[in-house]
Amino acid sequence: MDSYDSSHFNTFGLDQPLPSFQKLKGEREQLPVTRNLNDFWDEFTKNDVLIVSGGTGSGKTTQIPQFVAYKAQEMNIRGRIACTQPRRLAAVKVAERVAQEAGCELGAQVGFKIRDDHKISEETQLIYMTDGSMVAQAFNDRNFSEYHTVFIDEAHECNNNIYILMALVRRAVKARVNSRSKLKVIVMSATISVNKFVDYFKDDAQVAQIHMPGITHKVDLLYLGETPRHTSSQPHQQSDPEPNIGHIVEEACRIVAKIVRNQFPTGNILVFMPGVIEVEMACQRIRKSIGEVDVISLYSAQSGAAQNAIFRSSTERRQCIVSTNIAETSITIPDIVYVIDTGIEKVKRLMPRIGAFEVRPRPISKASANQRAGRCGRTRPGVCFRMYTEQDFERNLRDEPDVEIARDDVSAVYLKALAFGFAAATLPFIDLPPFENLAYANELLLDLGYINDQFQVTNAGKRAAQNPFEPNWTYAIDVAKVKYPHLAQHIVAIATICSSMHSIFAAAPARFMASSLASRAEFADPMSDLITELNALYAFETEEPKLPDDRELDQWCNRRFLNRLVMGKILLQRNSAVETMQIRFDEAPVALNSQDRENIRRILARTFFRNIAFRIPSSGGEVRYRTIHGNFEVIASQDSMLNTGGHPWVMYDTLNRARSNTYMTKVTHVEPEWIADLPFFQDDRMKKNYHGNIVQKRVKEALDKAREP
Ligand code: CDP
Ligand code: MG
Repeated sequence: MDSYDSSHFNTFGLDQPLPSFQKLKGEREQLPVTRNLNDFWDEFTKNDVLIVSGGTGSGKTTQIPQFVAYKAQEMNIRGRIACTQPRRLAAVKVAERVAQEAGCELGAQVGFKIRDDHKISEETQLIYMTDGSMVAQAFNDRNFSEYHTVFIDEAHECNNNIYILMALVRRAVKARVNSRSKLKVIVMSATISVNKFVDYFKDDAQVAQIHMPGITHKVDLLYLGETPRHTSSQPHQQSDPEPNIGHIVEEACRIVAKIVRNQFPTGNILVFMPGVIEVEMACQRIRKSIGEVDVISLYSAQSGAAQNAIFRSSTERRQCIVSTNIAETSITIPDIVYVIDTGIEKVKRLMPRIGAFEVRPRPISKASANQRAGRCGRTRPGVCFRMYTEQDFERNLRDEPDVEIARDDVSAVYLKALAFGFAAATLPFIDLPPFENLAYANELLLDLGYINDQFQVTNAGKRAAQNPFEPNWTYAIDVAKVKYPHLAQHIVAIATICSSMHSIFAAAPARFMASSLASRAEFADPMSDLITELNALYAFETEEPKLPDDRELDQWCNRRFLNRLVMGKILLQRNSAVETMQIRFDEAPVALNSQDRENIRRILARTFFRNIAFRIPSSGGEVRYRTIHGNFEVIASQDSMLNTGGHPWVMYDTLNRARSNTYMTKVTHVEPEWIADLPFFQDDRMKKNYHGNIVQKRVKEALDKAREP
């Protein structure tokens, strides 16, 4: 085995690196990647593209970009290095860590860039950034000419940005191959999906693959026994449509108790839960019933401060970290000895025929299961409790997770590809979306005028592709800009609310549901859930400066079941969107008058003409609607303020399918005469798609009725 070479750690030639450099040097020397850097460099110099795979925690993300940066500095290579990360938090955290390792200030030689924040200076040589920011940059610089090396990290995640980036770097490598400034690309991935990356590049570039063996202490896998008691729960059989989540949380907590109380040797515990709600449920339960551990929750919507708790392992007590799949690949937690794998993940899937999404808990893949197990055993032998049987693992789990592009709405990524000059007929994605999803995206973009019927991107489409929002919302903002310029900032705020992964209304446990809904009355707009949320956001924005005491502000939010962190993030994103999209912005506290509110609803109707439903007669107590696109029966979601059905015509943000119902979220009342103006009456194709004739008839009836004396 090669020993490491001291030039691996040359601190960017700083005369006086910060003390953290010496302090962390020993740790870095122990990393598996460090031993392989010479081999890596060999392959790096011989190839244009390298696919680097390796176990998590082996040092890929922190060491390899840093090493290339030192080498580049030695060799006087001009330009910078970018290393992309799927998650903002990971980008910031890893930049902090690498700056410490290099002994420099964050933002000096090592920096980061995420959508709403960055720390970069003239001297920055290595930038960790989100893959989204990298795509955004590419609109101004398609060949990445600022960089001599681009790392695409966590490539196995195959999110939409990664697909676009892969296509862009493949093209850029080819474009720069004969120039003096060649582009090097390094794709880093967990030990899955490696061959498909090699295949992707091999026709266009000199590509090689290199594997970095990870640290391998023994990890004992303990499967659920095949006893009748356990098989009765069988949460993981694919034939079982809905695993019993409450039961899973309970079982996982029982295992935690067992580890803590039954003299399992000391060591921290990591529990994987399907989603945020389950994380919170489990944390509460463990705190209440098992006093002997420090319980920490981990998910992407948290503040940095909350997540830092994990890295402050100051106490002697055992830590129990309860996480979503964010801890599967992107955040490395020190000293985990026990992993509890519930075997369940929550995934969202588009049902293109009716335009609805379905979020379902379902079994993870074998690759994810192995990834989860690999989170322990890094510093010493570990134990992974799999809450499923060995037979389940072998027979019922898919080999690899299915990629986002195969199940999500692809309109944004598809539009981006077209805007970057790729042809619709030869989309350069590593995996192609299912035909129906692509057809769905095509239709949407055609409706919005972002592509023409030759599948070419229009000028409006090119602009839309660069905006931070989904095409629909970009369109709404444009409608506002043209027709009601002073309302554009509010549409941006609504768009940001709807694009947020997390709701501004905190999830309330069932027994508080009534008070949670009641607290919303304070902000309620009788015509629109979206305006209700907007009111809540603005109330928070007005209150924030008045309550400089953190605790008071927390209290103010808690009483109203408002999610402070989410609102904070939304306001930041709103600000940056307003800036990048050059929206007129009035700082003064906003009071929307009734005309404004009506016009906001008009803009929504004008934009979301695909998302309109009309009330139909129903016998039960439930008020039912029928969508005009898809001609499908739906009801308003339970947390809609408008689910009493006062209005015959509504527009919704999304459709969510759960069990046997399809729910409209974030409902807004619209007027039939606004609908009569909409494009589907003018255009034959649209008429067909939107059941135009039925709708036309109904709109006419509604209008006639309104005109009756
Ligand atoms: O990318 P890969 O999973 O191969 O490893 P890495 O992220 O480079 O992490 C290598 C080591 O650096 C980990 O074992 C952690 O001990 C340490 N690290 C850390 O302490 N803090 C971070 N924010 C990132 C890494
Ligand atoms: Mg990594």
